[in-house]
Amino acid sequence: MRIAVLGTGMVGRALASRWSELGHEVTMGTRDPEATAQREDHRAWAVENDGVVLATMADAASSAEVVVNALSGQATIAGLESVGAEALGDRILVDIANPLDFSAGFPPTLSVKDTDSLGEQVQRAFPRARVVKTLNTLTASLMTHPRTLADGEHTVFVSGDDADAKVVVTSLLTEMGHRDVIDLGGIETARGTEMYLPLWLRCMGALGTGMFNLRMVR
Ligand SMILES: NC(=O)c1ccc[n+]([C@@H]2O[C@H](COP(=O)([O-])OP(=O)(O)OC[C@H]3O[C@@H](n4cnc5c(N)ncnc54)[C@H](OP(=O)(O)O)[C@@H]3O)[C@@H](O)[C@H]2O)c1
Repeated sequence: MRIAVLGTGMVGRALASRWSELGHEVTMGTRDPEATAQREDHRAWAVENDGVVLATMADAASSAEVVVNALSGQATIAGLESVGAEALGDRILVDIANPLDFSAGFPPTLSVKDTDSLGEQVQRAFPRARVVKTLNTLTASLMTHPRTLADGEHTVFVSGDDADAKVVVTSLLTEMGHRDVIDLGGIETARGTEMYLPLWLRCMGALGTGMFNLRMVR
């Protein structure tokens, strides 16, 4: 598939690298491609991932079948607005961002919760896009290589209003090694996975590592 990953942080890099390795055509969208290409951390990564093209967010999105939001939560709406509703069209928009607000320090608070979620805000801002919230409940290296922990016997979730989009996203997850993908329902169910973050952060503090995940035993 042609996949555009927006954001060049830990998550954007991990997913771009993995999907490229799995044979997808991956473009990474960034605010300033020239500046990102010069960034020391990106240069080292790019040497290992020379199949991944770097472009503006709008250029990356406009030629993709699936667009992935790997922007910080605070930058998500503005970042997607810079792409524009026209370029996003009715594409599948995989939203991985968490609405974390670090303005008062650590641990962050949630900038939206209870009666709304970032996933819903994205869907409302881009009504034609087929938003699927997923992968926001585990650390980047487990998103891409779930079998490094408990042989992949742990759980990820999908939330979204478009059933066909969730099927496509689930197949991208399965391809990376995820074995238990729970379809929670419509995009409003993203409230649940986003509100897990305060617990995820405390678990990371208690365990001293981000290498853990939920496993839904039933
Ligand atoms: N880190 C994890 O393991 C993890 C796990 C689950 C979910 N998440 C969520 O996944 C998302 C990405 O995580 P990350 O750790 O890779 O994030 P990050 O490094 O904090 O940010 C990702 C990208 O957001 C863009 N960005 C930052 N500020 C911006 C602004 N003011 N305007 C426009 N774009 C801006 C930057 O893109 P460019 O510099 O390329 O323009 C940056 O590379 C976050 O929402 C995070 O909550 C992360």
